[in-house]
Amino acid sequence: MVNVKTEIEPIDGTPKKRVFLSIINDYDFKTGLCELVDNAIDPWMGGDHKNSLVVTLDLDADRQLITVKDNAGGVKRHELSVLIAPGESKNDLSAEVIGVFGVGGKRAGIALAEHVTIKTRFQEEESCELNITQAWLETEDWNLPAYTIPDIESGTTQVEMSHLRKSFKSEDVDEIRTHFGETYSWFLRQGCAITVNGVAVVPIDFETWAFPPDYSPRHSSFDVDMGRGGKLSVEITGGLTRDREPEKDNYGVYFYCNHRLIVKELRTRDVGYFVSGEAGVPHTDASLCRVIVRLHGPAQLMPWNSSKNRITSDHLGFQQIRPRLIPLVGYFSSLSRRLRDDWDHHVFRHDVGQIEEVPAENITGKHLVLPALPRVNKPRAEKYKAINKTQLENMPWTLGLIESLAMVDVAERQRFETKNRISLILLDSTFEIALKEFIVNRQDLFPSNVYTDAEIQRLFSRRNLVTDLIVQKRPALKPLIDSANYFYIRRNKLIHERATVDVPNSDIRNYRQTVERLLNSLFDLNF
Ligand SMILES: Nc1ncnc2c1ncn2[C@@H]1O[C@H](COP(=O)(O)OP(=O)(O)OP(=O)(O)O)[C@@H](O)[C@H]1O
Ligand SMILES: [Mg+2]
Repeated sequence: MVNVKTEIEPIDGTPKKRVFLSIINDYDFKTGLCELVDNAIDPWMGGDHKNSLVVTLDLDADRQLITVKDNAGGVKRHELSVLIAPGESKNDLSAEVIGVFGVGGKRAGIALAEHVTIKTRFQEEESCELNITQAWLETEDWNLPAYTIPDIESGTTQVEMSHLRKSFKSEDVDEIRTHFGETYSWFLRQGCAITVNGVAVVPIDFETWAFPPDYSPRHSSFDVDMGRGGKLSVEITGGLTRDREPEKDNYGVYFYCNHRLIVKELRTRDVGYFVSGEAGVPHTDASLCRVIVRLHGPAQLMPWNSSKNRITSDHLGFQQIRPRLIPLVGYFSSLSRRLRDDWDHHVFRHDVGQIEEVPAENITGKHLVLPALPRVNKPRAEKYKAINKTQLENMPWTLGLIESLAMVDVAERQRFETKNRISLILLDSTFEIALKEFIVNRQDLFPSNVYTDAEIQRLFSRRNLVTDLIVQKRPALKPLIDSANYFYIRRNKLIHERATVDVPNSDIRNYRQTVERLLNSLFDLNF
């Protein structure tokens, strides 16, 4: 048999209307409305900015009606198909715009409502109207009737949606305003105005940086090569923030593509979370870390999904950004954790400063050239001194007692086989010295004409004389003194008896508690 290629009748590749069904579930209220705002922004950005752009949304929760109106320029009569034919777009694939897929506007209208009316007027041309209805969606005829209508304002487009597929509530209106403020903050600052039910959307930024000494935010710019498509320019800023809102979890990675916010608060494996040695498991301790990535370049090279609410992590552009993004996310997450014991002091109060520029090589993988992170554990003595700052100011003699307890902590961390012996001796001396300091420094209870040097020496030659005296002045301390006595006996066994006693961990724990309680009742010290 001869294998020849024979032409048969061509196959009709016209899409079926069913393609629209696939997207109805993928679009929520916010995503859908953003597509319509995007479509107003692109022509305005591409124009001469003679008029400021005004996008007006009316969201009528009672009647479940949505109207989105803009003065971006309108669509020419002979180009009306861009509003309805999937894949049709006027945008250049290599332009720095938002719209690139040629589907957003159509999908949004159809996903939100069963009935969509689009009115548009290009310059002084006649005004036109299209009606996308459920009936049209259910036939296989792709021709859509179009009309000329009485003039609407020149250069405007108006999308009216009714018979909504999913209802919205009046609370959603405030939410959408916030969402627009975040998504379009850069455009709003460029003079684009968006109003929702008559209330202007205000730009919302996320650059509420803190500038702790040595640890100010870092900014780096670089290009990623996308082969024949060109390149993407990337700007990354990472740092600690001052606007933490625990209930909002407002930390992680934020992505803007051509100035439009795509995702915020991203905390996935793709950006270093859930990986130890990178950002680790997301946790409130790390919640001051924020890293903002801004990408600029041809719309077709952007790592966004087609509804522009996600970043696609297996995208070539994202893959090239990742090695410089993850180290920064890891660094500032660790920094946030390490300063956790006093964010107010270490972070929040540093509200002015400069973002530091760093070369991209400095934030790449293993070659992170940033100041060493602060030590995790403050020396214990420093911690105790900080807690007892006022007491130390008023009673400087308590320093030795505080540092002795810190020393017990140090002993505990050593791998010495007999560390409990050392701790027992330390604790017992601290106990006794505490009593001495109390007697010597409380003139009101122990006047120096009675408690002369000679008397003090006599008292301290026998410990029970001291403890009896203390109990006499402070009867409430009796149980503490009794408990310490048990350990005092053990200490004596250690020092004076032939057989050396073992000191169990529990003894050290209990005696330490006793000493802490004594220091607390005598001098108001805390540990
Ligand atoms: N409000 C508008 N004002 C002026 N032109 C518009 C408006 N809405 C849509 N258009 C035109 O319709 C075209 C198609 O819009 P659509 O949202 O479907 O695709 P896109 O924006 O090009 O790409 P994407 O699918 O990424 O959004 C746009 O390129 C634009 O030329
Ligand atoms: Mg679009």
